[in-house]
Amino acid sequence: MKRLMPCTRIIGTGSFAPAKVLTNADVEKLVETSDEWIRTRTGISERRISSEDEATSDLAYQASLAALEAASLDPADLDMILVATITPDMFFPSTSCVLQDRLQARRAAALDISAACSGFVYGLAVADGLLRLGTLRNILLVGAETLTKIVNWKDRNTCVLFGDGAGAVVLRGGEGEQGILSTHLFADGGKGSLLMMPGGGSRHPLSQRVLDEELAAIQMANGNEVFKVAVRAMEDAALTALKHNHLEVGDVDLLIPHQANLRIIDAVGQRLGFSRDRVCVNIQRFGNTSAASIPLALDVAVRAGRVKAGDQVLLCAFGGGLTWGSALIRW
Ligand code: ACO
Repeated sequence: MKRLMPCTRIIGTGSFAPAKVLTNADVEKLVETSDEWIRTRTGISERRISSEDEATSDLAYQASLAALEAASLDPADLDMILVATITPDMFFPSTSCVLQDRLQARRAAALDISAACSGFVYGLAVADGLLRLGTLRNILLVGAETLTKIVNWKDRNTCVLFGDGAGAVVLRGGEGEQGILSTHLFADGGKGSLLMMPGGGSRHPLSQRVLDEELAAIQMANGNEVFKVAVRAMEDAALTALKHNHLEVGDVDLLIPHQANLRIIDAVGQRLGFSRDRVCVNIQRFGNTSAASIPLALDVAVRAGRVKAGDQVLLCAFGGGLTWGSALIRW
């Protein structure tokens, strides 16, 4: 008799984005740029922007409710809540603790994950590892960001790129051949200065100088260099996943790459040999939502019927840290 292997399944997905839309025409009023430049160089037409009283946990909460409903799971049955974010409500308590309280998920432990745009894939690896141990059964993993709150609205190199949103999945440990087939994580802290928010932490605590020098905001040292590294890293991570599972590109039904720039997505898809219809793209409407981008795209794809039982879905991410990684899932 064939022994069933431990396997982590995604049993529900959800997403949420703030109602307010910031179009390229709106951004044109803030910095010297044009709708044409933004669309042709990044693929972005609009992004969502949180209101003053909307924090990351508010977005995470709505996405979580949708995922729990899809999974038919009561928050009381959650064993753990993981929130991947670089825009927490505050340093502490963690956003996952805030969410645990909002959901009244009293039995759940709570942990935030800081891996920038790779946060969701890092979170999948952490959740998968915990569930495979067999001591936990249900984990809620959320990628949620309010990046528009840490953007320097005077810097046209970065402010056009980012948006707010949240995506959530409910993960269940069990046995079988469906679920997360592999996760692979990578990091290169030596290139951390390419993408950073240097101020507001213990290196440069919040001060008038930090505010004057816009240090408590996203900085991108060399967009073009980040672009090239991102393409190579996501391609490598995707190939590592395929090789590990003895699969070919043709065996993958849908590629969901991190949504940072349409040209990055196209380059990764082309280098791997994916046709455009097998690559999930929603950057036009949301911009780069960092840790939220993959689960947001995944939820939209699932609800649109683009992901069906038995489909093989490849996720690949790249972000600040630098961090990157991939996950292969059999739905
Ligand atoms: N509007 C008009 N012009 C602009 C704008 C803008 N919004 N932004 C930059 N430019 C100008 C620059 O000043 C520069 O002008 P110069 O040549 O006169 O100096 C020129 O455009 C640069 O143009 P390109 O070389 O075409 O820029 P590029 O193709 O590299 O595109 C971009 C820039 C969109 C930033 C791209 O490099 C990129 O997407 N990089 C990757 C970002 C990324 O992947 N981030 C992921 C991680 S994010 C995270 O982890 C939080």
